[in-house]
Amino acid sequence: MQKSDILVIGSGVAGLSFAIKMAQKRKDLIITVLSKTSTSETNTAWAQGGIAAVWDQKTDHPEKHIKDTLVAGDGLCDPEIVRIVVEEGPLRVQELIDWGARFDKEDDGSYDLGMEGGHSENRILHYKDITGREIQRTLVEKAKTFDNIKFVQHLYAVNLITQHHLGRNLTRLSNDIECYGAYVYNKEKNETQTFLSKITVMCTGGAGQVYQNTTNPILATGDGIAMVYRAKGRLANMEFVQFHPTALFTTTEENPDYLISEAVRGFGAVLKTPDGKEFMQKYDDRLSLAPRDIVARAIDNEMKTLGAEFMCLDCRHLNQEDFLEHFPNIYEKCKSIGIDPFKELIPVVPACHYVCGGILVDEHGASSIKNLYAAGECTCSGLHGANRLASNSLLEGLVFGHRIADKLEKLIDLVEYKEGIPDWDAEGTLEPKELVLLNQSWKELKSIMSYYVGIVRSDVRLRMALNRLHLLYEEVEELYTTTSISPQLCELRNLITIAYLITTGAQMRRESRGLHYTLDHPERFDYLETTLM
Ligand code: FAD
Ligand code: SIN
Repeated sequence: MQKSDILVIGSGVAGLSFAIKMAQKRKDLIITVLSKTSTSETNTAWAQGGIAAVWDQKTDHPEKHIKDTLVAGDGLCDPEIVRIVVEEGPLRVQELIDWGARFDKEDDGSYDLGMEGGHSENRILHYKDITGREIQRTLVEKAKTFDNIKFVQHLYAVNLITQHHLGRNLTRLSNDIECYGAYVYNKEKNETQTFLSKITVMCTGGAGQVYQNTTNPILATGDGIAMVYRAKGRLANMEFVQFHPTALFTTTEENPDYLISEAVRGFGAVLKTPDGKEFMQKYDDRLSLAPRDIVARAIDNEMKTLGAEFMCLDCRHLNQEDFLEHFPNIYEKCKSIGIDPFKELIPVVPACHYVCGGILVDEHGASSIKNLYAAGECTCSGLHGANRLASNSLLEGLVFGHRIADKLEKLIDLVEYKEGIPDWDAEGTLEPKELVLLNQSWKELKSIMSYYVGIVRSDVRLRMALNRLHLLYEEVEELYTTTSISPQLCELRNLITIAYLITTGAQMRRESRGLHYTLDHPERFDYLETTLM
C-alpha cells in the first residue's frame, strides 16, 4: 500500500499546476503525481495555438473575453465560472511566465498576441506552434523543485476507492459517497496496488481516442471520467464533443491526426474547396474564423455535398518569413508529406479534439464525491458550455489547479486516511490469451462512434450506435471479469463507457445546440439546461 496526503492522477497543465500550488502552500504534505506513461507525455504537451488571456489592456477587456466565451458556449456556460476564469486567468499566466514559460514577443518586447476563431481580440499567448510543449516543460521543471511532490510514472489508475470497496451498495442517488484513493496497476510487477490518500484530484484529460480521427494522443482514453462514473459520481454535458475543423488529411492512417492550428487561420489562412473556391460565406459572417462548431459542420457539409475526402487551407498568400517564424513545425509536417504550404493547398478534415463534458465540479473543483476534486479536460466546470472557445482549455487547467489548492490548504487537515481498505481482488481471473481481440474491439468502437455519433447526428443513428455499443460492452465486461487486467483492457472498457455517455447524452438532448447537431431536432430550445448523468 502507498500512502500520500494527496493523490493527483495526471501530470498535464491541471495536475501539475495544482501540485505546484499545493506544494508551495503546504510543505508538510506529501503529494503524489501519477502518470500512466511518463510525466511529460500529456495532451497538454500537444497544444499548439496557445493560451487565451486578456493581456493588452489598451485594446482588450475581460468583458470581451467573457462575451466571446459565452457566445461560443451557446447558452450553456455558467456565467459565474466564465467570469472567474477570465478574471483570474491573466494572474495565472503571469505565474507561468515567472516560472520560466516563454511566449513569443514582438520587436518592442510586448507579447505577440494571436487570433483564433470566436475571439473578438488578439489575446492568444503562444510559443511558436508548440505552446503546450513549452508549458509542460515549465511545469515539470517547477514541480521538480519541490521535495514534497513525488512523481510516479508508468502506473495506471484503474478505479477510485469508495465505500463500495468496504461492502456498501452505492447508487447514483447516494449523496454521501467518499473517495479514499485509487487502485493502481503496476505493469512491471503485474499487480494492482492500493494508493491511499486523504484527497484525490482527478486530472486525467480527454477522451479523443473514442473516435477514428482525433488530434488527441493515444493516452486520451477518458479514464478519469469513466472511473468517476463507475464510482457513481455526477457527470454533465457529455454529448458536447468538439471536432477541430482542421486536422491534416493524409492517405496513411495516422493516430493521432496532426493538427493544423486554428492560429493558422487567425494568421490569415482561408478555407477553400479542393478546387480552390471559398465556401465559409455560405455559413457564417465570420468566415474561416467562426467558432469551431460552425466551421467543422460547414466542412463536413461541403465534404458530403461534393463527395470530397477533405477541404483545404490556403496559406499561399501569407508572408512566408512570418509564417515560418510562427509555424515552423506545421510547415515541416506539411513538407514531410510532400505539401508545400507556400505553393499548394493544405488538405484538412475535422477530427475529434475535445470533450466539453465530464466530471461535474463546482467553482473550487469539488466533485459530487467527498474528498474527490477534479480539474482540466476531464471536468465539466461550466466554462465551456455547449462549445469550448479556442485556447480556453489550458487557461481552465491553470485557474482550477490554483483554486483547488486554495480550497484545500486548510480543509485537508480535517480529513483522515480511511482504515481497512481491502487489497485489489484479482481472484478467479486468468491471463488473457488473445490480446489482439482488444485491438479489434477498439477499432469497432471508433468506427461506431465516427459513423453514428459524429458531427451530424440523428435519432436512428444514435439508436443504432447504442445497439452496437451494448454488444461491445457485454464482450468487454466478460473479458474484464474473467481475465487479469491490463491498461489496454481498462482503456477499452473506459472508452466504451465514454461512448455510451456521449451517445445517451446526445439522445437526451432533443435540440441542436453548440457542438450537438441532430437532423431530427434542428431547432435550439429556449431552455438552458445541463445534461446531468
Ligand atoms: P492532460 O494534459 O491530457 O494530462 C492527462 C494526464 O493524466 C496525463 O499525465 C496522463 O498520463 C494521466 N492519466 C490519464 N489517465 C490515467 C490513468 N488511468 N492513470 C494514471 N494517469 C492517467 N488547448 C488550449 O487551450 N490551447 C491550445 O492551443 C490547444 N491545442 C491543442 C492541440 C492539440 C493537438 C490537442 C490534442 C489539444 C489541444 N488543446 C489546446 C487542448 C488542451 O491541450 C487539453 O485540453 C489540456 O492540455 C488538457 O490538460 P489536462 O491537464 O486536463 O490533461
Ligand atoms: C489550435 O491550436 O487550433 C488548438 C487550440 C485549442 O484547441 O484551444
